[in-house]
Parts: sequence; C-alpha cells; structure tokens
Amino acid sequence: MNELNMRPTTFLNALWLGLGLWAFASCALIEDKKEPGWEYAPQMYVSTPYEPYSQVTKNTINADGKNMRAPAPGTIARNGLGYDNTVLELMHNYPIGRDSVDYAGKVLRNPLDSRDTTLLAEGKYLYGVYCAPCHGAEGNGQGKVGQIYAGVPNYKDSRIPGLPSGHIYHVITLGKNRMWGLGSQIRPEDRWKIVLYVNQLRGYQEPS
Ligand code: HEC
Repeated sequence: MNELNMRPTTFLNALWLGLGLWAFASCALIEDKKEPGWEYAPQMYVSTPYEPYSQVTKNTINADGKNMRAPAPGTIARNGLGYDNTVLELMHNYPIGRDSVDYAGKVLRNPLDSRDTTLLAEGKYLYGVYCAPCHGAEGNGQGKVGQIYAGVPNYKDSRIPGLPSGHIYHVITLGKNRMWGLGSQIRPEDRWKIVLYVNQLRGYQEPS
C-alpha cells in the first residue's frame, strides 16, 4: 500500500505524533536553562518603568547599567541589626509559636551577664521607653497607659516573680493575651537587656 493511500485517522495520528515529538524536542534541546526560548509579545509583560529585580535592558542613566542602586555608604540593611520587621519574618527568625510561652521559658537562656550593671542600666532605659507607659516605672502596672488599659499586671503579683527569663523574653517578642509583641521594634539583644531590668523589678534571681 502506498503512503498516500493512508486512511485519514492514521494520517492524523502520525501528525499528532510528529507535533508531540517536535514540542518535546523544542523544550529538551534548549541547552541553556536560563534561555526561555521564544517569548510571545514580551512588551505585554515587560514593564516600561525601571524595575530593580526584572531588568531586561541596560540602564542608560546609571553608570553601571543596573536599575538597582548600591545602598549609600553607611546605611544598614533591614535586619542588619537583628530587628524582625514583619510578623512573617518574626515567625521565621523566631521559631517558637506565640502560645508556646512555657516552652520558651524552658529553652531560652539570657545570653547576657546578669551582674553587668551597664547592661542593666541600658535595660532600665529601654524599659522606660517601651514598657513603662503600661507597666509603670516601678512595674506595678500603673503607667499612664496602664491606668486605662485593663489587665496590665503588677510584676510583684503571684506567679510573675517566679517566671524564668525566657518567658519574659518571649512575652516581649510576641506578646501574650492582651499584650502585643514588641519584637518588631526592639532588637533581640535589647530585649534581653530589658529582661535583666524586669528581673530586678520583680525580684527574680537568675539561677546560676
Ligand atoms: C500596651 C501596654 C503594654 C506594653 C507597652 C507592654 N505590656 Fe507587658 N503586659 C501588658 C498587658 C495588658 C499584660 C497582661 C497580658 C495578659 O492578658 O495576660 C502584660 C503582661 C506582661 C507580662 C506578664 C506575662 C505573663 O506571663 O503573665 C510581662 C512579663 C510583661 N508584660 C512584660 C513587658 C515588657 C518587658 C514590656 C516592654 C518591652 C511590656 N510588657 C510592654 C501590657 C503591656
């Protein structure tokens, strides 16, 4: 039987097979993985304004040809000082869940020397900035905000004097119940300094 006498279905099958092989080959034969092959109407999705992360042409204004500029000398990148900027980053960098405060109390240790009076003085200053408005300079819960914001405890009350330092650190970082976290505003080392001062206010001795 001559090829031209093929039945129409056989011919169609051969055509599909051919097309399939061609499509497969066109993907497989591209050796450079970074080369996307043909792009259809790229002007529909390549942005005309300068984009730092999806630059397609050489920038004719900046000397180095890049859209993105190098940071000015002396600037500090986000998180360069250990701040956690967003809730997501916070959860990422700090792997203990908000409700796992007891666990935090068990596993976290204050890396700072609790007898260092300079660190304690810094902790006192930071406490005055971040905590005293609610907790009061003496830790009695009677700061200006604490007087109208219900539920701020006295650090000398019942269980608080016995809580481990890691518990306090966790509460500063992610908050607890009606207190929200301050981890996005206070860097980790400063949180531990505050812990030193809170320990003094509540009369807690770090076990040695
Ligand atoms: C907006 C007011 C506010 C600010 C600011 C604030 N707190 Fe609190 N804090 C609260 C409230 C309210 C509670 C009670 C939380 C609850 O409902 O259990 C609390 C509870 C606590 C507790 C007790 C946790 C426990 O397990 O019972 C500690 C310790 C504490 N805060 C430390 C701090 C420190 C340290 C700072 C500063 C870095 C600070 N707080 C800033 C309102 C505040």
